[in-house]
Amino acid sequence: MNIPQWPVAGGRERELLLAVLDSPQWGGFHEIVTHFEEQFAAYQHCLHAVSTFNGTVSLEAILTVAGIGPGDEVIVPAISFVSTATAVSRVGATPVFVDLEPYTFNVDPEQIAAAITGKTRAILTVHFGGPLCAIDRIGELARNHGLLLFEDAAHAHGSEWNGKRSGSFGLAGSFSFQNGKVMSSGEGGIVTTNDAGFAERCRSFANQGRRPGAGFFHHFTASTNLRLTALQAAILVAQLERLDGDIALRQRNEEFMRRELGAMRGLTLQQVPSAVNRRSHYLLLGRIDEQLFGISRDEFHRHMLRHGIPCTPFYPHPLYGNPIYAEGGCRVEPCPIAEACVRDAFWLPHRVLMSDEETVAEIVGRIRSLQ
Ligand SMILES: Cc1ncc(COP(=O)(O)O)c(C=O)c1O
Repeated sequence: MNIPQWPVAGGRERELLLAVLDSPQWGGFHEIVTHFEEQFAAYQHCLHAVSTFNGTVSLEAILTVAGIGPGDEVIVPAISFVSTATAVSRVGATPVFVDLEPYTFNVDPEQIAAAITGKTRAILTVHFGGPLCAIDRIGELARNHGLLLFEDAAHAHGSEWNGKRSGSFGLAGSFSFQNGKVMSSGEGGIVTTNDAGFAERCRSFANQGRRPGAGFFHHFTASTNLRLTALQAAILVAQLERLDGDIALRQRNEEFMRRELGAMRGLTLQQVPSAVNRRSHYLLLGRIDEQLFGISRDEFHRHMLRHGIPCTPFYPHPLYGNPIYAEGGCRVEPCPIAEACVRDAFWLPHRVLMSDEETVAEIVGRIRSLQ
């Protein structure tokens, strides 16, 4: 199968990287880092962005700077990459796991509403696979209950809800530029916010407690160093330039796949609310009803691999099934949908959707041959 590899670098990545290599500053104080932060903030419809060295520490930075800590509960979806939950645990707060909507793979706002207690301080929501979660309703819940709202937008670069981009809805958003993400510098992360004071505190936290205008050796808080290097920023400036084109290509291919696979019994691709007018297409997600489809998710997975099509049989457990939560340290609401997804869902990585037309047609043919 002629499926392109990922990540991809071209002449622009090389040009910007060489300019940094030829400069005397390879670290976080090169002007290209600030340039990238400004570009990315604007791209996500935010006023400020603070880069970090990955999407895990950017989540931890947001919660730390917001003052979330012991005694606080933070509501998170039961399905995400582990950092969404461990960021909460690492600041000493308690993650509260809630269920998903049946076919969007995103958190169910009504399950969030049911999980709010007097200890709840924040909602840390996720835009799983690319499409935004029901952010209007979740924002309304946060406002009505006086909770902070954060977005883990690691999957959702450039995704929109009614024309407004991920990372711009709550107090802050967090993105990852890890190797598999839709724009990548191998590792990397960023915090977005529209709150100038919060941005300044995040920047100080990520920069060893320095403050703007004060001396280089004046540190105001016992903080840390989360700085992105100029080498990474150079690659990311180029990656951001190619993102719109990549999204358009993935969208064309996904529309074709949805059309061609729509009539298959027992295969439900991720449902996308009409308010999601643009998305990253980070993952192509689906669920298989074995009775209707004829074979199980695991057989489907094996079929895909046999034909050289990359496919992941979802996560092996909801977040609370990880050994770190075996002894507690969290609160778990009933999560029947998340548990069903563990048994019957799969995803294809976005590079599948970057294939040429012939290859996409071949993939569709391989799936359709199953019925
Ligand atoms: C939803 C989600 N949150 C957070 C992260 C953590 O990002 P990083 O790998 O850059 O630390 C990832 C992925 O890696 C992710 O998928």
